[in-house]
Amino acid sequence: MKFFVDTAKLEEIKKAEAYGILDGVTTNPSLMAKVGIKGRPNILKHYKAICDIVGDNVSAEVISTDYKGIMKEAHELAEIDTKIVVKVPMIPEGVKAIKTLSDEGIRTNCTLVFSAGQALLAAKAGASYVSPFIGRIDDISSDGMKLIRELVVIFENYDFETEILAASIRHPMHIVDCALVGADVVTCPLSVIEQAFNHPLTDIGLRNFLADHEAGQK
Ligand code: G3P
Repeated sequence: MKFFVDTAKLEEIKKAEAYGILDGVTTNPSLMAKVGIKGRPNILKHYKAICDIVGDNVSAEVISTDYKGIMKEAHELAEIDTKIVVKVPMIPEGVKAIKTLSDEGIRTNCTLVFSAGQALLAAKAGASYVSPFIGRIDDISSDGMKLIRELVVIFENYDFETEILAASIRHPMHIVDCALVGADVVTCPLSVIEQAFNHPLTDIGLRNFLADHEAGQK
């Protein structure tokens, strides 16, 4: 399973990369806004800075919602670096653009996916990744993991090459459950990746090992 970090903050991306477990980065307009970068040229420069930190798979999202606008932005983003994956919203104009971009050999990540039907359409259009938002489904008292399980079965049934990129991850059990059912990728806030390191028995065990070592040296 691939691990992506879901942030536009360079320090967080560097930290996740330094752990040696990172396969990519996802951003979205809200995450970019949090970093406070203004103006198109600076936004594009920021994506380049992210690409310079990680080995591959940097999702950069379009803002346009019409086919022509999405295509223009997608080409601009894809030109930044070969590591860019163009993130396109799950809307009819977006699916049309995903089809064209896929025919052109530009990788895409179809975002804001909340149902199996939407994911199926994105996969049919040739999306490289689909991003089901499992935390946001859980937030409305529904079952985000059920969607991941459905997509694993559907994509296997038809040998779709589209990868399931579980997004909107809220806690380490989302990561574990995604791994159990066979999601291809999880994209997590750095805080959730760091929570996954923790176990009280590891802390107690390490403390005892070190204390025993010290005592043994006296
Ligand atoms: O990048 C998309 C996604 O992971 C959003 O997460 O926490 O805003 O629902 P969240």
